[in-house]
Amino acid sequence: MGRFPFPIPTGWFAVAFSSELEPGDVKPVKYFGKDLVLFRTSDGEAHLLDAFCPHLGAHLGHGGFLREDRLVCPFHAWEFDGKGKCKHVPYANKMPKKADVPGWLIHEKNGMILAWHDLAGREPFFEVPDVPEFADEGWTDIRTKQWTIKSCNQEMAENQVDTAHFQYLHGSTKMPEATVERRGPHLITKSGTGMSTPAGPVDGTLEVNAWGFGFTTTRFNGIVETLLMSSASPIDEDHVELRFAFMVRKIGKGITGGVGKAFMAEVSRQLEQDIPVWENKIYIDPPVLCDGDGPIGQFRLWARQFYPEGWREGSDVAAAK
Ligand code: FES
Ligand SMILES: [Fe+2]
Repeated sequence: MGRFPFPIPTGWFAVAFSSELEPGDVKPVKYFGKDLVLFRTSDGEAHLLDAFCPHLGAHLGHGGFLREDRLVCPFHAWEFDGKGKCKHVPYANKMPKKADVPGWLIHEKNGMILAWHDLAGREPFFEVPDVPEFADEGWTDIRTKQWTIKSCNQEMAENQVDTAHFQYLHGSTKMPEATVERRGPHLITKSGTGMSTPAGPVDGTLEVNAWGFGFTTTRFNGIVETLLMSSASPIDEDHVELRFAFMVRKIGKGITGGVGKAFMAEVSRQLEQDIPVWENKIYIDPPVLCDGDGPIGQFRLWARQFYPEGWREGSDVAAAK
């Protein structure tokens, strides 16, 4: 057993920012413990397939290219469409049966290409919403950052309800109270907080909306309004790719840019304080909690739905009581 017991969870997870994939691009990516190939056809649609060609196993993302919107294997030029269906074998008189590559379900929204993952192969049982501030004239374009972290989704997501660590790890001046509301796969966490800005510390409210582990919005409302969209995507059972996209409500030339920079710097600073804890900690179940801790048990109850049915039935529930 490793540092944590979790299988790769169910949900929508970013496999790229939209801006990273132009029509005609073919890229190797690694998520969900698998080698995959991501590409964009001329109609603007993104596609994600298992990486290995069923013929003799070439990686379609290393040297593969698009010809008339079909992904051509670099080894013997077999051609696959966006769903992974083998459409053409240039030197075969009879097309082989079973030559298809498994394809993945993709939704592109909020500047991210999100793929659905479920170990049991179930269809999506929830969707990621369109974020209204994204592409709103009153808000800046997104500015992005990303990190590869040796941890897992559940450990990183628990951060939002662990209010006590804000003071002791991040140096917040006060210990915020947090409330959580569980609405199926959607979790809403609200708390008061302080954020340091060039003009000194600013009080405000923090609202975190999570749709599973793979898509989260964090809205900070104080003197300024800022929004962070994030996606934590499992690379394998103990590595996560974390993507952040920052936006600020425009408040006048010059000021907006400064606020945006300060916001990005502050959120990144806090994250980089969390990383060494995440990369070295273990998961304790059940944890020893005290009355000042945030709603960690509630979070753990919510998190259970993103694992295969029947997985560790009954264990974390004790923490919520
Ligand atoms: S390995 Fe892909 S065409 Fe032969
Ligand atoms: Fe943190």
